[in-house]
Amino acid sequence: MDAIKNPFSPGAGSPPPELVGREGILEQARVLLGRVQQKRPEKSILLTGLRGVGKTVLLNEIERLAAKVGYHTLSVEAHEDKSLAAMLVPPLRKLLFELDRLAGAGDKAKRGLAVLKGFMNGVKVTMGDVEVGLDIEPEKGAADSGDLESDLPNLFLAVAEAAEERNAPVALLIDELQYFSPKELSALIMAMHRMQQRQLPMVLLGAGLPILPRLAGESKSYAERLFSFPDIGALSEADAIKALQDPTKAVGVHFEAAALKEIFRLTQGYPYFLQEWGYQSWNRAAASPITLQIVQEATATVIQRLDANFFRVRFDRLTPGEKQFMRAMAGLGPGAHRSGDIADALGVKINSIGPGRAKLIQKGMIYSPTHGDIAFTVPLFDEFMLRAMPHLN
Ligand SMILES: Nc1ncnc2c1ncn2[C@@H]1O[C@H](COP(=O)(O)OP(=O)(O)OP(=O)(O)O)[C@@H](O)[C@H]1O
Ligand SMILES: [Mg+2]
Repeated sequence: MDAIKNPFSPGAGSPPPELVGREGILEQARVLLGRVQQKRPEKSILLTGLRGVGKTVLLNEIERLAAKVGYHTLSVEAHEDKSLAAMLVPPLRKLLFELDRLAGAGDKAKRGLAVLKGFMNGVKVTMGDVEVGLDIEPEKGAADSGDLESDLPNLFLAVAEAAEERNAPVALLIDELQYFSPKELSALIMAMHRMQQRQLPMVLLGAGLPILPRLAGESKSYAERLFSFPDIGALSEADAIKALQDPTKAVGVHFEAAALKEIFRLTQGYPYFLQEWGYQSWNRAAASPITLQIVQEATATVIQRLDANFFRVRFDRLTPGEKQFMRAMAGLGPGAHRSGDIADALGVKINSIGPGRAKLIQKGMIYSPTHGDIAFTVPLFDEFMLRAMPHLN
């Protein structure tokens, strides 16, 4: 069928034709945003889940929700090699200028810019040629100690006071939170703690891999009282069917029941895979309905594409030793595995795999669902590893 009209949208952060099965979380976000606006306490939301489950599209939807009810939104994505401070300065600067331009009495936005300038001196962030504001003197002693854990809360305080003065609530949206260093995460948690204690209109909405609740808890024991960590997972069979059927139904095309069942079996309800299978099946079909046979024919193309892109980009980031480790893990089958069993499969002592394991966790390739266990962060990665490396050397 016409590839141009294909309703499916496989891709990182590409909005699906229908955001299925996330109503509960969107409602939770609506309540949070409403309560913060009214200075009532509420736990911030940090979405957690495996790769490709739809955290980014959900976070983007929450951003739209926030903007619609009157929030100023700042949206950033953490990277392994970029500091939290360097990431936050440009959007905070932009926000403070916006607040400064809003009608109203008071000069807290200007003060915010002075504190931001001091902050940049303290943590040694530069913004290339862009200056915070040439005529603004950095404020001394507010957020310029160079210690992120004391400076960031003070910076947020200055920003949120400016937002409060202008009656303009702020939503900070941060994706890939697991990439922050323990110090950065701790500073961020302390800053949000301060927001809540002072009932200031600034809220954090984040997303990250399933390791995030543990990282946050290890960093600050009160994190669990500050944040809720909804688990974003695979869709149920009914929701997966809806995700496939509704977008095609809207254009007069339908799937046979057996075709839907087969896609669910192959994807296990993981949203990214649903989009890929939907997309290729649509392109393969000559006309409605999309049959089981079409899905079966499309499967080879889908797996080829997944192997060449989705899985491959992750595989290529591994060192030879890490590949061995991941292959040994895959050989043990789907699900979580004990470190000891992986060491056995590799034929080495358990304590020798510790550093490699830590590095893979840091790269976001694996995580530890419970103490001593590890699992892949990418769904169906075990099957891919077996295809990519048929033998464990
Ligand atoms: N609720 C949903 N229903 C159907 N499709 C969805 C849903 N959520 C996300 N998708 C699709 O899944 C794919 C992955 O979404 P997204 O990039 O948001 O995942 P992610 O969890 O952020 O992944 P990563 O951890 O790799 O960043 C996209 O193609 C998107 O269209
Ligand atoms: Mg994402």
